[in-house]
Amino acid sequence: MSKVTVVGAGNVGATCANVLAFKKIADEVIMLDVKEGVAEGKAMDMNQTAQLLEFSSRIKGVTNDYAATANSDVVVITSGIPRKPGMTREELIGVNAGIVKSVAENILKYSPNAILVIISNPMDTMTYLASKVTGLSKHRIVGMGGALDSSRFKYYLSEALGVNPTEVEGMVIGGHGDTTMIPVARLATYKGIPVSDLLSKEALDKVVADTMVGGATLTGLLGTSAWYAPGAAGAAVVESIIHDQKKVVPCCVSLEGEYGQNDICIGVPVVLGKNGWEKIIDLKLTAEEKEKFEASAAAVRKTNNVLNEINAI
Ligand code: 2OP
Repeated sequence: MSKVTVVGAGNVGATCANVLAFKKIADEVIMLDVKEGVAEGKAMDMNQTAQLLEFSSRIKGVTNDYAATANSDVVVITSGIPRKPGMTREELIGVNAGIVKSVAENILKYSPNAILVIISNPMDTMTYLASKVTGLSKHRIVGMGGALDSSRFKYYLSEALGVNPTEVEGMVIGGHGDTTMIPVARLATYKGIPVSDLLSKEALDKVVADTMVGGATLTGLLGTSAWYAPGAAGAAVVESIIHDQKKVVPCCVSLEGEYGQNDICIGVPVVLGKNGWEKIIDLKLTAEEKEKFEASAAAVRKTNNVLNEINAI
């Protein structure tokens, strides 16, 4: 019996829980929220789709009842406020740091062996915060940003190529920020063919630019952060962990010398399996890509420094 908790039953958390149940990724899904009745109501609504969508996973909603989350295998943390149009993810740090810290502490009281998947923004800094405040093994803390950004990259590539998105490969590494993420266009392929052979430089540059502001574009349209792709990206990360699929997914993890970085959580391709992130794939970056990665790390580090300023770590 696999058990997954999703903390935060807002748009992202509820979508993630729904995908976890619908795709039969977990047998039991607990949704926890601070707002009375919201998680309970959304869970009941989702359970009423079980017969229609043919799944037997059970979803339970609770209000702040951490005891109900006990012995979860994986816990997805989505808590905190989303961004509004014009806001950067980094501007959320003051409010979200306190929330993520207390959620992580409460969760570990009841699920000391859980693997944590962090979605709350600013995602790289919240992943770093979770690793600092919990002291867990680095393998048990995974930020999902790269999974989402890579999915957006593949979507924009498939649109530009006019092909099936499931037949496109592409990775986004670096920070999960509008200016810090790095879609690695050089390594993107369609059925093994480099996309640079199939798209003009202008078209490929546009795909990269659109990917980088993918979240901001949606925030502008929706008036709040997106949720379908962020929730599904969180569920995909959980799936590879809980089913020990060993998929390679760009995720935000703690680096100790890899990619020339230390004391930082940032996006790199990792193998996801039952132990959390199990291995980092060392891409041979070009000088230009390395320079971008370093600039991305410097920007993430600047946001991480705010955690000290606000005494969060
Ligand atoms: C996004 O990029 C919510 O950060 C998330 O849509």
